[in-house]
Amino acid sequence: MVTREDVLRAAALIRAGRLVAFPTETVYGLGANALDPAAVDSIFRAKGRPATSPLIVHVSSREMAQRYVRVWPNEAEVLSLRFWPGPLTIVLPKVQAIPDRVTAGLDTVAIRMPAHKLALELIEAAGVPIAAPSANRFTQLSPTTAGHVRAAFGDTVDLVLDGGPTNVGIESTVLSLAVPGSPLILRPGMVTQFDIEAAIGPVESVLSVQGAHPSPGMHERHYSPRTPLILSSELPSGRGVFVWWRYPKAAAKVLQMPSDPALYASRLYGTLHELDAEGWDFIAVEPVPETHDWAGIRDRLRRAASETLRGPEIA
Ligand code: TXA
Ligand code: MG
Repeated sequence: MVTREDVLRAAALIRAGRLVAFPTETVYGLGANALDPAAVDSIFRAKGRPATSPLIVHVSSREMAQRYVRVWPNEAEVLSLRFWPGPLTIVLPKVQAIPDRVTAGLDTVAIRMPAHKLALELIEAAGVPIAAPSANRFTQLSPTTAGHVRAAFGDTVDLVLDGGPTNVGIESTVLSLAVPGSPLILRPGMVTQFDIEAAIGPVESVLSVQGAHPSPGMHERHYSPRTPLILSSELPSGRGVFVWWRYPKAAAKVLQMPSDPALYASRLYGTLHELDAEGWDFIAVEPVPETHDWAGIRDRLRRAASETLRGPEIA
């Protein structure tokens, strides 16, 4: 159990420029004071993340979010009222108080208010916005438990607040409102295009716009287990696992996932972390539906399966 004292100790560490890992409803974050460039630098060092990948700034209220952006368009008002606290990140023009390090030199900042009691208490107690990427090493699987964070970082992180397993399970939807009148989904997540359109009208998604810029720092290989992962019901040779949700198939190990996307997402990374530790030749995953509600899961599976950057480690 995390006590009030633990939260206050974590908040003091944040204010002192140190690193604290904390739970959100999506995945665990590796947090530092977003207003302190040196503290933000240590996030990049700990993760082995290239400085060209901007971070998400976490806030504990809509008022706090508004303090760090130059404009607050009506879409931001509507979406924040509808989905915050929750797994939707909004990209808007930043104020100068947000250091360039946080945004990788961009003039915009990604902001969200997480739906997790500990995260909100921590930000509130620290009294500053907290910059946090997912608390995994660069290109590896995102953590959905405090144990995953400790396995990845050991003592490099000053404190890990253990809030148990996260429930949404994959990273937030990232929506850019930086270009007035042209909302654009940069990263799909469990707040779907359908949900967003129901609130503010038509939005585009980078996944469907030809030639559009993906989210900066969205590397093709990402969220990957070390075991080769293939997205197919055709099994390769060797001893491997088949992860299915609809049609099972014989394999050395057969694992059933939920057919509901919210449940599937909440178990995805935990399942991959476990299977990865078991030392199989491959992890084959049955393709998931092409519908909006599965878009975030499809994206993460596709990236986990990506072979493009296998071989020499990048950064
Ligand atoms: O659910 C989440 O979003 C988790 C938890 C910890 O909040 N965080 C997370 O952070 O996934 P990270 O650093 O792994 O991913 C941040 C994403 C990247 O895709 C990055 O490109 C995008 O947000 N992003 C950050 N700032 C941006 C900006 N100014 N413009 C466009 N995209 C931005
Ligand atoms: Mg990440």
